[in-house]
Amino acid sequence: MTNISAAITAVGGYVPDFILTNQILETMVDTNDDWITSRTGIKERRILKGENKGTSFMAIQAAKNLIQKTNLDPKTIDLVVVATATPDMKAASTSAYTASEIGATNAFAFDIDAACSSFLFGMSIVARYIESGIYKKILLIGADKNSSMINYEDRATCIIFGDGAGAVLFEANQEGLGMQDELLRSDGTGREFLRGTHGGSSNAITEESFKEKNHFIYQDGKTVFKNAVFNMADAAVKILDRNNLDNDKVDWLVAHQANKRIIDATANRINLDPNKVMMNIEKYGNTTSGTLPLLLSDYESKLKKGDNLIFAAFGGGFNWGSIYLKWAYNS
Ligand code: UT7
Repeated sequence: MTNISAAITAVGGYVPDFILTNQILETMVDTNDDWITSRTGIKERRILKGENKGTSFMAIQAAKNLIQKTNLDPKTIDLVVVATATPDMKAASTSAYTASEIGATNAFAFDIDAACSSFLFGMSIVARYIESGIYKKILLIGADKNSSMINYEDRATCIIFGDGAGAVLFEANQEGLGMQDELLRSDGTGREFLRGTHGGSSNAITEESFKEKNHFIYQDGKTVFKNAVFNMADAAVKILDRNNLDNDKVDWLVAHQANKRIIDATANRINLDPNKVMMNIEKYGNTTSGTLPLLLSDYESKLKKGDNLIFAAFGGGFNWGSIYLKWAYNS
Protein backbone atom coordinates (compact mmCIF):
# COMPACT_ATOMS: atom_id res chain seq x y z
CA MET A 1 0.00 0.00 0.00
CA THR A 2 1.16 3.52 -0.78
CA ASN A 3 0.12 6.81 0.86
CA ILE A 4 -0.95 8.07 -2.56
CA SER A 5 -4.64 8.63 -3.15
CA ALA A 6 -6.29 9.54 -6.45
CA ALA A 7 -7.80 13.03 -6.44
CA ILE A 8 -9.82 15.00 -8.94
CA THR A 9 -7.84 18.16 -9.70
CA ALA A 10 -9.81 19.70 -12.60
CA VAL A 11 -13.15 19.36 -14.39
CA GLY A 12 -14.66 20.37 -17.73
CA GLY A 13 -18.00 19.94 -19.44
CA TYR A 14 -19.80 20.19 -22.74
CA VAL A 15 -23.41 19.95 -23.89
CA PRO A 16 -24.61 20.45 -27.48
CA ASP A 17 -26.48 23.63 -28.42
CA PHE A 18 -29.76 22.10 -29.59
CA ILE A 19 -32.36 22.06 -26.79
CA LEU A 20 -35.11 19.43 -27.03
CA THR A 21 -37.82 20.78 -24.70
CA ASN A 22 -40.82 18.96 -23.28
CA GLN A 23 -42.95 21.21 -25.48
CA ILE A 24 -41.18 19.95 -28.62
CA LEU A 25 -41.61 16.34 -27.44
CA GLU A 26 -45.35 17.00 -27.06
CA THR A 27 -45.44 17.44 -30.85
CA MET A 28 -43.53 14.18 -31.46
CA VAL A 29 -45.16 11.60 -29.13
CA ASP A 30 -48.25 11.30 -26.94
CA THR A 31 -46.90 13.02 -23.83
CA ASN A 32 -47.08 16.33 -21.99
CA ASP A 33 -44.88 18.66 -19.97
CA ASP A 34 -46.78 17.96 -16.71
CA TRP A 35 -46.32 14.19 -16.99
CA ILE A 36 -42.62 14.42 -17.84
CA THR A 37 -41.89 17.01 -15.14
CA SER A 38 -43.77 15.25 -12.35
CA ARG A 39 -42.52 11.73 -13.21
CA THR A 40 -38.90 12.58 -14.01
CA GLY A 41 -38.00 16.19 -13.12
CA ILE A 42 -36.81 16.77 -16.71
CA LYS A 43 -37.74 19.98 -18.58
CA GLU A 44 -35.28 19.78 -21.48
CA ARG A 45 -32.32 17.81 -22.82
CA ARG A 46 -29.51 18.54 -25.33
CA ILE A 47 -29.19 16.75 -28.67
CA LEU A 48 -26.02 16.59 -30.78
CA LYS A 49 -26.84 17.45 -34.38
CA GLY A 50 -24.59 17.39 -37.43
CA GLU A 51 -23.22 14.80 -39.83
CA ASN A 52 -20.45 12.51 -38.62
CA LYS A 53 -20.57 13.94 -35.11
CA GLY A 54 -20.45 11.17 -32.54
CA THR A 55 -19.63 10.79 -28.86
CA SER A 56 -15.99 11.76 -29.44
CA PHE A 57 -17.09 15.21 -30.59
CA MET A 58 -18.50 15.91 -27.11
CA ALA A 59 -15.66 14.12 -25.30
CA ILE A 60 -13.15 16.32 -27.12
CA GLN A 61 -15.07 19.52 -26.29
CA ALA A 62 -15.32 18.58 -22.58
CA ALA A 63 -11.60 17.75 -22.45
CA LYS A 64 -10.69 20.99 -24.25
CA ASN A 65 -12.82 22.93 -21.75
CA LEU A 66 -10.81 21.37 -18.89
CA ILE A 67 -7.50 22.01 -20.67
CA GLN A 68 -8.34 25.67 -21.36
CA LYS A 69 -9.50 26.32 -17.78
CA THR A 70 -6.34 24.90 -16.24
CA ASN A 71 -3.67 25.54 -18.91
CA LEU A 72 -2.89 21.83 -18.76
CA ASP A 73 -0.28 20.71 -21.30
CA PRO A 74 -2.04 17.74 -22.99
CA LYS A 75 1.35 16.14 -23.68
CA THR A 76 1.68 15.49 -19.92
CA ILE A 77 -1.44 13.29 -19.85
CA ASP A 78 -0.53 9.61 -19.38
CA LEU A 79 -3.90 7.98 -20.01
CA VAL A 80 -7.25 8.97 -21.51
CA VAL A 81 -10.26 6.83 -20.56
CA VAL A 82 -13.59 7.47 -22.25
CA ALA A 83 -16.53 6.00 -20.33
CA THR A 84 -19.36 5.56 -22.81
CA ALA A 85 -22.23 3.30 -23.82
CA THR A 86 -22.33 4.91 -27.27
CA PRO A 87 -18.87 4.65 -28.86
CA ASP A 88 -18.35 6.38 -32.22
CA MET A 89 -17.78 3.16 -34.12
CA LYS A 90 -17.23 -0.56 -33.73
CA ALA A 91 -13.60 -1.61 -33.22
CA ALA A 92 -12.04 1.88 -33.42
CA SER A 93 -11.84 3.15 -29.85
CA THR A 94 -13.44 6.52 -29.16
CA SER A 95 -10.77 7.29 -26.56
CA ALA A 96 -7.78 6.88 -28.92
CA TYR A 97 -9.32 9.35 -31.35
CA THR A 98 -10.23 11.73 -28.51
CA ALA A 99 -6.68 11.60 -27.09
CA SER A 100 -5.14 12.42 -30.47
CA GLU A 101 -7.57 15.26 -31.14
CA ILE A 102 -6.81 16.98 -27.83
CA GLY A 103 -3.05 16.62 -28.32
CA ALA A 104 -2.50 13.94 -25.66
CA THR A 105 0.16 12.41 -27.88
CA ASN A 106 2.07 10.69 -25.04
CA ALA A 107 -0.99 8.94 -23.67
CA PHE A 108 -2.50 5.51 -24.15
CA ALA A 109 -6.28 5.32 -24.25
CA PHE A 110 -9.18 2.93 -23.86
CA ASP A 111 -12.98 2.95 -23.60
CA ILE A 112 -15.04 1.41 -20.82
CA ASP A 113 -18.75 0.60 -20.82
CA ALA A 114 -20.89 -0.18 -17.78
CA ALA A 115 -23.98 1.65 -19.11
CA CYS A 116 -25.07 4.44 -16.74
CA SER A 117 -22.39 3.39 -14.23
CA SER A 118 -19.56 3.74 -16.77
CA PHE A 119 -18.14 6.92 -15.24
CA LEU A 120 -18.46 5.60 -11.66
CA PHE A 121 -16.67 2.35 -12.54
CA GLY A 122 -14.12 4.42 -14.52
CA MET A 123 -13.28 6.34 -11.34
CA SER A 124 -12.39 3.04 -9.68
CA ILE A 125 -10.14 1.98 -12.59
CA VAL A 126 -8.20 5.23 -12.90
CA ALA A 127 -7.77 5.47 -9.12
CA ARG A 128 -5.86 2.17 -9.15
CA TYR A 129 -3.55 3.45 -11.93
CA ILE A 130 -2.83 6.64 -9.94
CA GLU A 131 -2.34 4.77 -6.65
CA SER A 132 0.20 2.49 -8.36
CA GLY A 133 2.42 5.55 -8.83
CA ILE A 134 3.08 4.54 -12.45
CA TYR A 135 0.78 7.14 -14.06
CA LYS A 136 0.58 10.76 -12.89
CA LYS A 137 -2.16 12.43 -14.92
CA ILE A 138 -5.26 10.61 -16.13
CA LEU A 139 -8.16 12.15 -17.99
CA LEU A 140 -11.47 10.36 -17.35
CA ILE A 141 -14.23 11.48 -19.70
CA GLY A 142 -17.88 10.44 -19.44
CA ALA A 143 -19.67 11.02 -22.74
CA ASP A 144 -22.77 9.69 -24.45
CA LYS A 145 -24.71 10.51 -27.58
CA ASN A 146 -27.87 8.79 -26.37
CA SER A 147 -29.87 10.28 -29.24
CA SER A 148 -28.08 7.74 -31.49
CA MET A 149 -29.92 4.82 -29.84
CA ILE A 150 -33.28 6.36 -29.04
CA ASN A 151 -36.50 5.73 -30.93
CA TYR A 152 -38.18 9.14 -31.04
CA GLU A 153 -41.55 7.40 -31.46
CA ASP A 154 -41.20 5.64 -28.08
CA ARG A 155 -42.44 7.92 -25.30
CA ALA A 156 -41.11 5.54 -22.64
CA THR A 157 -37.50 6.36 -23.54
CA CYS A 158 -37.30 9.50 -25.70
CA ILE A 159 -38.39 11.80 -22.88
CA ILE A 160 -35.58 10.68 -20.58
CA PHE A 161 -32.31 10.68 -22.48
CA GLY A 162 -30.04 13.48 -23.70
CA ASP A 163 -26.50 13.97 -25.01
CA GLY A 164 -23.55 15.42 -23.11
CA ALA A 165 -20.04 14.96 -21.76
CA GLY A 166 -17.89 15.81 -18.77
CA ALA A 167 -14.17 15.37 -18.13
CA VAL A 168 -12.12 15.14 -14.95
CA LEU A 169 -8.39 15.01 -14.33
CA PHE A 170 -7.11 12.56 -11.73
CA GLU A 171 -3.73 13.12 -10.05
CA ALA A 172 -1.93 11.78 -7.00
CA ASN A 173 -2.64 13.36 -3.62
CA GLN A 174 -0.62 12.90 -0.44
CA GLU A 175 -2.86 14.89 1.92
CA GLY A 176 -5.47 12.13 2.25
CA LEU A 177 -7.83 13.77 -0.25
CA GLY A 178 -9.46 12.11 -3.28
CA MET A 179 -10.83 8.56 -3.45
CA GLN A 180 -11.62 7.10 -0.01
CA ASP A 181 -13.87 4.06 -0.55
CA GLU A 182 -16.04 2.35 -3.13
CA LEU A 183 -18.75 -0.29 -3.36
CA LEU A 184 -19.49 -1.46 -6.91
CA ARG A 185 -21.86 -4.24 -7.97
CA SER A 186 -23.34 -5.89 -11.08
CA ASP A 187 -26.27 -8.24 -11.72
CA GLY A 188 -26.52 -9.54 -15.28
CA THR A 189 -30.06 -10.83 -14.80
CA GLY A 190 -31.09 -7.20 -15.21
CA ARG A 191 -30.13 -6.96 -18.87
CA GLU A 192 -33.56 -7.84 -20.22
CA PHE A 193 -35.05 -4.70 -18.66
CA LEU A 194 -32.84 -2.11 -20.41
CA ARG A 195 -31.27 -3.07 -23.73
CA GLY A 196 -31.03 -2.75 -27.50
CA THR A 197 -31.17 -6.30 -28.83
CA HIS A 198 -29.91 -5.83 -32.40
CA GLY A 199 -26.72 -4.33 -33.79
CA GLY A 200 -24.42 -5.97 -31.24
CA SER A 201 -22.59 -9.31 -31.58
CA SER A 202 -25.53 -11.54 -30.62
CA ASN A 203 -27.99 -10.26 -33.21
CA ALA A 204 -27.11 -8.48 -36.42
CA ILE A 205 -29.51 -5.84 -37.72
CA THR A 206 -31.82 -7.49 -40.25
CA GLU A 207 -34.50 -5.98 -42.45
CA GLU A 208 -37.10 -7.28 -40.00
CA SER A 209 -35.33 -6.10 -36.83
CA PHE A 210 -34.81 -2.71 -38.46
CA LYS A 211 -38.53 -2.41 -39.23
CA GLU A 212 -39.32 -3.38 -35.63
CA LYS A 213 -36.76 -0.79 -34.45
CA ASN A 214 -34.92 -3.34 -32.30
CA HIS A 215 -31.63 -1.51 -32.80
CA PHE A 216 -33.00 1.21 -30.51
CA ILE A 217 -33.10 0.79 -26.77
CA TYR A 218 -36.04 -0.63 -24.89
CA GLN A 219 -36.63 0.00 -21.19
CA ASP A 220 -39.02 -1.58 -18.71
CA GLY A 221 -39.06 1.67 -16.74
CA LYS A 222 -40.89 0.42 -13.64
CA THR A 223 -38.52 -2.50 -13.02
CA VAL A 224 -35.43 -0.37 -13.64
CA PHE A 225 -36.88 2.33 -11.37
CA LYS A 226 -37.47 -0.09 -8.45
CA ASN A 227 -34.00 -1.60 -8.76
CA ALA A 228 -32.37 1.83 -9.07
CA VAL A 229 -34.08 3.21 -5.97
CA PHE A 230 -33.20 0.18 -3.86
CA ASN A 231 -29.64 -0.43 -5.02
CA MET A 232 -28.35 3.13 -5.33
CA ALA A 233 -29.58 4.01 -1.85
CA ASP A 234 -28.37 0.71 -0.41
CA ALA A 235 -24.83 1.21 -1.78
CA ALA A 236 -24.72 4.80 -0.48
CA VAL A 237 -25.92 3.73 3.00
CA LYS A 238 -23.25 1.01 3.18
CA ILE A 239 -20.51 3.46 2.13
CA LEU A 240 -21.64 5.95 4.79
CA ASP A 241 -21.88 3.29 7.51
CA ARG A 242 -18.51 1.73 6.95
CA ASN A 243 -16.80 5.15 6.86
CA ASN A 244 -18.63 6.37 9.98
CA LEU A 245 -20.06 9.27 7.99
CA ASP A 246 -23.13 10.82 9.62
CA ASN A 247 -25.33 12.72 7.19
CA ASP A 248 -24.06 16.04 8.62
CA LYS A 249 -20.53 15.07 7.51
CA VAL A 250 -21.68 14.58 3.90
CA ASP A 251 -21.31 17.79 1.90
CA TRP A 252 -22.67 16.62 -1.46
CA LEU A 253 -24.59 13.75 -3.02
CA VAL A 254 -23.43 13.33 -6.63
CA ALA A 255 -26.06 10.96 -8.00
CA HIS A 256 -26.65 9.67 -11.53
CA GLN A 257 -29.33 11.86 -13.12
CA ALA A 258 -31.84 9.29 -14.40
CA ASN A 259 -34.98 10.44 -12.62
CA LYS A 260 -35.41 13.13 -9.94
CA ARG A 261 -37.57 10.73 -7.93
CA ILE A 262 -34.71 8.20 -7.76
CA ILE A 263 -32.25 10.91 -6.65
CA ASP A 264 -34.71 12.21 -4.02
CA ALA A 265 -35.29 8.68 -2.71
CA THR A 266 -31.53 8.14 -2.34
CA ALA A 267 -31.14 11.49 -0.54
CA ASN A 268 -34.06 10.65 1.77
CA ARG A 269 -32.64 7.25 2.60
CA ILE A 270 -29.41 8.88 3.84
CA ASN A 271 -31.40 11.71 5.43
CA LEU A 272 -29.62 14.39 3.44
CA ASP A 273 -30.60 18.06 3.25
CA PRO A 274 -31.87 18.73 -0.32
CA ASN A 275 -29.41 21.65 -0.57
CA LYS A 276 -26.60 19.10 -0.53
CA VAL A 277 -27.97 17.19 -3.52
CA MET A 278 -26.41 18.13 -6.87
CA MET A 279 -29.13 18.31 -9.50
CA ASN A 280 -29.12 19.29 -13.18
CA ILE A 281 -31.52 16.70 -14.59
CA GLU A 282 -34.06 19.44 -15.39
CA LYS A 283 -31.81 20.82 -18.15
CA TYR A 284 -29.92 17.80 -19.48
CA GLY A 285 -32.07 14.71 -18.76
CA ASN A 286 -30.16 11.44 -18.48
CA THR A 287 -26.82 11.73 -20.31
CA THR A 288 -25.73 8.22 -19.16
CA SER A 289 -21.91 8.45 -18.63
CA GLY A 290 -22.07 12.24 -18.75
CA THR A 291 -24.23 12.83 -15.67
CA LEU A 292 -21.65 12.63 -12.86
CA PRO A 293 -18.87 14.73 -14.48
CA LEU A 294 -21.44 17.26 -15.75
CA LEU A 295 -22.65 17.68 -12.16
CA LEU A 296 -19.07 18.34 -11.04
CA SER A 297 -18.63 20.82 -13.88
CA ASP A 298 -21.85 22.68 -12.99
CA TYR A 299 -21.15 22.71 -9.22
CA GLU A 300 -17.35 23.20 -9.33
CA SER A 301 -17.47 26.77 -7.99
CA LYS A 302 -19.39 25.62 -4.88
CA LEU A 303 -17.02 22.81 -3.98
CA LYS A 304 -14.42 23.32 -1.26
CA LYS A 305 -11.21 21.48 -0.49
CA GLY A 306 -11.96 18.69 2.00
CA ASP A 307 -15.68 18.42 1.12
CA ASN A 308 -17.06 14.89 1.45
CA LEU A 309 -18.75 13.80 -1.78
CA ILE A 310 -20.86 10.65 -2.07
CA PHE A 311 -21.24 9.46 -5.66
CA ALA A 312 -24.00 6.98 -6.56
CA ALA A 313 -25.13 5.50 -9.86
CA PHE A 314 -27.34 2.77 -11.28
CA GLY A 315 -27.87 1.63 -14.85
CA GLY A 316 -28.25 -1.04 -17.49
CA GLY A 317 -26.64 -4.38 -16.88
CA PHE A 318 -27.58 -3.93 -14.07
CA ASN A 319 -24.50 -2.07 -12.80
CA TRP A 320 -24.47 0.18 -9.74
CA GLY A 321 -22.50 1.45 -6.80
CA SER A 322 -21.31 4.28 -4.61
CA ILE A 323 -17.98 6.04 -4.13
CA TYR A 324 -16.76 8.27 -1.30
CA LEU A 325 -14.34 11.00 -2.44
CA LYS A 326 -12.84 14.01 -0.64
CA TRP A 327 -12.70 17.07 -2.89
CA ALA A 328 -9.12 18.27 -3.38
CA TYR A 329 -9.21 21.95 -4.38
CA ASN A 330 -10.92 25.34 -4.16
CA SER A 331 -11.69 26.79 -7.55
O1 UT7 B 1 -30.17 5.56 -16.31
C1 UT7 B 1 -30.56 4.26 -16.57
C2 UT7 B 1 -31.52 3.81 -15.59
N1 UT7 B 1 -32.83 4.27 -15.93
C3 UT7 B 1 -33.62 4.69 -14.99
O2 UT7 B 1 -33.24 4.77 -13.84
C4 UT7 B 1 -35.05 5.01 -15.36
C5 UT7 B 1 -35.99 4.36 -14.39
N2 UT7 B 1 -37.39 4.49 -14.70
C6 UT7 B 1 -38.05 5.67 -14.70
O3 UT7 B 1 -37.47 6.71 -14.53
C7 UT7 B 1 -39.56 5.65 -14.84
O4 UT7 B 1 -40.00 4.32 -14.76
C8 UT7 B 1 -40.10 6.29 -16.15
C9 UT7 B 1 -39.88 7.79 -16.10
C10 UT7 B 1 -39.38 5.69 -17.34
C11 UT7 B 1 -41.59 6.03 -16.26
O5 UT7 B 1 -42.24 6.52 -15.11
P1 UT7 B 1 -43.30 5.61 -14.34
O6 UT7 B 1 -43.81 6.42 -13.24
O7 UT7 B 1 -42.60 4.32 -13.97
O8 UT7 B 1 -44.41 5.37 -15.41
P2 UT7 B 1 -44.96 4.00 -16.01
O9 UT7 B 1 -44.02 3.44 -17.00
O10 UT7 B 1 -45.43 3.12 -14.89
O11 UT7 B 1 -46.25 4.52 -16.75
C12 UT7 B 1 -47.37 5.08 -16.04
C13 UT7 B 1 -48.39 5.54 -17.05
C14 UT7 B 1 -48.74 4.47 -18.09
O12 UT7 B 1 -50.09 4.63 -18.43
P3 UT7 B 1 -51.21 3.67 -17.81
O13 UT7 B 1 -50.81 2.27 -18.19
O14 UT7 B 1 -51.17 3.89 -16.32
O15 UT7 B 1 -52.47 4.16 -18.45
C15 UT7 B 1 -47.88 4.83 -19.27
O16 UT7 B 1 -48.41 4.35 -20.48
O17 UT7 B 1 -47.87 6.64 -17.79
C16 UT7 B 1 -47.89 6.33 -19.20
N3 UT7 B 1 -46.69 6.92 -19.82
C17 UT7 B 1 -46.65 8.18 -20.26
N4 UT7 B 1 -47.59 9.15 -20.30
C18 UT7 B 1 -47.23 10.35 -20.83
C19 UT7 B 1 -45.47 6.35 -20.01
N5 UT7 B 1 -44.64 7.23 -20.59
C20 UT7 B 1 -45.35 8.37 -20.76
C21 UT7 B 1 -45.03 9.63 -21.30
N6 UT7 B 1 -46.00 10.59 -21.30
N7 UT7 B 1 -43.81 9.93 -21.78
